[in-house]
Amino acid sequence: MPSVELHHISKSFASVRALNDVSLSIAPGTVHGLLGENGAGKTTLMNILYGMVQRDSGEIRSAGRPVDINSPRDAIAHGIGMVHQHFMLAGAMSVLENVLLGDRREGFLLDRRSAADRLMKLARDLNVDIDPSARVEQLSVGQQQRVEILKALWRDVSLLILDEPTAVLTPQETEQLFVAVRKLREQGKSVVFISHKLREVLSICDRLSVLRAGRVAWEGSSNDASEEKLASIMVGEDFSATTAKPPAGSASADAAVLRAVNISAPGLNSISFDLRDEILGIAGVDGNGQQELAEAIIGIRTLNNGQILLHDRDISTLDAPDRFKLGLAHIPNDRKREGLIGSMGIGENLVLKQHDSPPFSKNSIMRWNRVRESAKSLVEQFDIRTTSLDSPISTLSGGNQQKVVLARELGLSQPKVLIAMNPSRGLDVGATRFVHEQLLAHRARGAGIVLISSELDEVLQLSDRVGVLYRGQLTMSEFPRDGVEKIGRLMAGLTD
Ligand SMILES: Nc1ncnc2c1ncn2[C@@H]1O[C@H](COP(=O)(O)OP(=O)(O)OP(=O)(O)O)[C@@H](O)[C@H]1O
Ligand SMILES: [Mg+2]
Repeated sequence: MPSVELHHISKSFASVRALNDVSLSIAPGTVHGLLGENGAGKTTLMNILYGMVQRDSGEIRSAGRPVDINSPRDAIAHGIGMVHQHFMLAGAMSVLENVLLGDRREGFLLDRRSAADRLMKLARDLNVDIDPSARVEQLSVGQQQRVEILKALWRDVSLLILDEPTAVLTPQETEQLFVAVRKLREQGKSVVFISHKLREVLSICDRLSVLRAGRVAWEGSSNDASEEKLASIMVGEDFSATTAKPPAGSASADAAVLRAVNISAPGLNSISFDLRDEILGIAGVDGNGQQELAEAIIGIRTLNNGQILLHDRDISTLDAPDRFKLGLAHIPNDRKREGLIGSMGIGENLVLKQHDSPPFSKNSIMRWNRVRESAKSLVEQFDIRTTSLDSPISTLSGGNQQKVVLARELGLSQPKVLIAMNPSRGLDVGATRFVHEQLLAHRARGAGIVLISSELDEVLQLSDRVGVLYRGQLTMSEFPRDGVEKIGRLMAGLTD
């Protein structure tokens, strides 16, 4: 298996220098971690290696010789595959059809039976389970990711690029992915692993490269790195990743901002809680009602039963825009599907929910200068890295798109209640700390926050009280008396 090298790669988008003379060498049989702040250039660098983005200058070499890579097909021909954070599968088709899709190599028109056999063997070699005839849209996120990985391996790649593969996985799925990655390493293949989760990176990677503002800031063995050291290199200053949580205010039982009384809906089974000026953490393995709970509270899922009260006013029958106007903010789980419109600029996305109210509109006429002013100050406040306010949101790096959602929900108004679902997903360490500080600041001024997160660490670090969702039911824990172990047991459905 050849080693793959990137030599002096540079790339600009208009006036932004996304990559500046970056060199990287990936040895066979290694897992190479690629780290850096949001917008540092990780995805761009790997898109260049995969032929999705054209470099301005520099060279790609395989086994010491320069190779021409101008499209993903070229990359695959040179043994390089990539799994993007947002999968590119055809949902209505089966696993096997997806794997075969686009494979135009000559002499490769196998019959279905032997194709399925080969796929099963590839899966077994990685220790993963897969049903070739299952329809992709019926699979969990973790299973879909496996299909993407198998699709690349089907094409005999020897280098697999994984762009933030664990951002969407549960802890169990992450463990399974790591088993597969270790198998690939044993087979002599190499993996490029992009992640913001430093503990994870240190546990799975052999070598690390840290990008800062489009340059390599550090390269070395993961044995020579620590979480603190990596965070400091990325940010360029001394850094402690955790935010100290100030003590809760004088929350009293009768001062509930939001009250859920026996709410039931598809996926939710008679849930009740009172939310005060506090952070109520909701832990749980993804798929146990988190999305449904958020939707029920913000008003896009109809209740079969029960009531939701905002300051004693029954809002159960109001629609989402009306609930938003009353002070209910929402950080959605999937920013691409629920949060942003990719083709529109930052300003338009920031005022998406308030385009018909002052100060952004007067007598039904949009006041674009107001929108721009406001966008400009939010970009500064939330440190959104972008070339211009008019750039389509889709050209922002993943983490910077997330910051736009946060700015819209937290920066424009002072919500009474915030439903935050995985708010730091895809954010770098600095931005994660910033989000945590924002949540605590909103709590301090009296807002109630429901923090629904699949990162148990995040829940335990920020919450005043912790409940666990399991199969649509909410069980409150005795946090902080109940620690990780007890809460982990509740997450697995064990109540004693
Ligand atoms: N198609 C594009 N048009 C304009 N600018 C772009 C485009 N793609 C990337 N950029 C810019 O290049 C820079 C690097 O982005 P990139 O997506 O590589 O960052 P990243 O390190 O992957 O960040 P994240 O951790 O947030 O995913 C950013 O400033 C981004 O806005
Ligand atoms: Mg990226």
